[in-house]
Amino acid sequence: VCVNKMDAVDYSKEVYDEIVAEYTAFSEKLDIHDITYIPVSALKGDNVVTRSQNTPWYNGFPLLEKLESVHVSADRNLVDFRFPVQYVIRPNQNFRGYAGRIASGTISPGEEIAVLPSGRTSKVKSIVTFDGEPTEAIQSQSVTLTLEDEIDISRGDMIVRKNNLPQVSNRFDATVCWMDEEPLSLRKQYYIKHTTRTIKARISKIHYKIDVNSLHREKADKLELNEIARVEIHTSQPIYFDSYNNNPQTGNFILIDSFSSLTSAAGMVRGEPSDISKLSRQATGVKRKQSTNVVWEREGISREEHEALNGHKSAVLWFTGYSGSGKSTVARALEKRLFSEGIRTMMLDGDNVRHGLCGDLGFSDADRTENIRRVGEVSRLFFENGSMVICTFISPFRRDRDFVRGLIPEGRFLEVFVNCDLGVCKRRDPKGLYKKAQNGEIREFTGVDSPYEEPENPEIIVETDVMSVEESVEKIVAHLKEEGIAE
Ligand code: ADX
Repeated sequence: VCVNKMDAVDYSKEVYDEIVAEYTAFSEKLDIHDITYIPVSALKGDNVVTRSQNTPWYNGFPLLEKLESVHVSADRNLVDFRFPVQYVIRPNQNFRGYAGRIASGTISPGEEIAVLPSGRTSKVKSIVTFDGEPTEAIQSQSVTLTLEDEIDISRGDMIVRKNNLPQVSNRFDATVCWMDEEPLSLRKQYYIKHTTRTIKARISKIHYKIDVNSLHREKADKLELNEIARVEIHTSQPIYFDSYNNNPQTGNFILIDSFSSLTSAAGMVRGEPSDISKLSRQATGVKRKQSTNVVWEREGISREEHEALNGHKSAVLWFTGYSGSGKSTVARALEKRLFSEGIRTMMLDGDNVRHGLCGDLGFSDADRTENIRRVGEVSRLFFENGSMVICTFISPFRRDRDFVRGLIPEGRFLEVFVNCDLGVCKRRDPKGLYKKAQNGEIREFTGVDSPYEEPENPEIIVETDVMSVEESVEKIVAHLKEEGIAE
């Protein structure tokens, strides 16, 4: 608290109380629990080094004394052992040690550990330091660990206690403070630096921006210098994290602009993405199993190897549009064409997956979101396996389509907007469903009593009310060639 007023200083307790009350009310929203108020004047030096005569009503510490005596170890996390590996030390055949700085927690020889991402387990054999082999090492010490078993561990892996695992995911929510002149872009690729790893990342969503003066949440579609927002981040590989509140060491990160190499943002991990778990819980009525401790399968054949074998790149072609707009018709013709050119395809169609994979879902907003989430995850698997994945779903909500976009690397998710006048779709009515919807026999039918949000920047638009099926197919194939996805 500063009681300076230009060159005069107001020493009254009333002013102090007013400032304290105001800031206390403000900080309630900040989740900070140990705020100390000290009436100081930088100008006159009151209560900076020694207690001031001018504020006899204040009997706390002066600033300097407070700083020297403040209890900081409370902010340490000595529970969750997290050891991001920095180097593998292998001077000869007889020694293999893993060097790094203990991000949090404690460790002793004999304790059982697990290695992420492989999930292999072992026991700590010894802790090696410059000063010998201690029986315990704790947070912020730099040590080398040796293990009982020979495990393949490399830089960026994390050693943790077997029964205390961090979250492992490539999607999470975070609070970021934007530090770059260049505003945040949802389309751009960034690097995330988290513990000892630097990997590719995208910001898939801005949940809201925080007004730093009022702490109110505001809707936002961009973020500029010094702005703070809650966002969802997608990384190209899973990261091993804890929420910042539990463990600042494994809960903090920075984002780096992949072009300029400047630090774009500093961030704090909040946890799993809020919307997905909530929506799928609503949709299915059950809490989705939160497979947080699943270890990501990294071994095996990579997408690049699959692509090399196939002789083309993989991609996800996401057809969106009204029922009756011709999504399936164009998609099927496209699949035939690609197949004849030797391209490996996989087709996922709304009417088909709704019999099996999504047979438990209806057409409420939440069910549609869950439908698209599941299909998105399936397309990602086929995509990683080297296929040209063709998906035809009404997918009426922009945020759902953007969710799938976020699962797929930049440039490989192609949104195909099958644009057809709604009146034409209703006249075509191939399945007689518009008629039923208009008669009230079916509810929540897209275009009748459920909305459709048109894509804002689709990669491809085909207008099936003016173009023939062949023309639409040609346009899509031409785009694939232009982008170098297919020869
Ligand atoms: S989405 O909205 O979740 O993307 P999806 O593409 O899987 O929908 O399924 C749409 C298909 O389900 C339509 O082509 C139609 O045959 C059928 N259908 C049945 N009821 C509805 C409805 N209320 N709204 C939209 N499509 C429906």
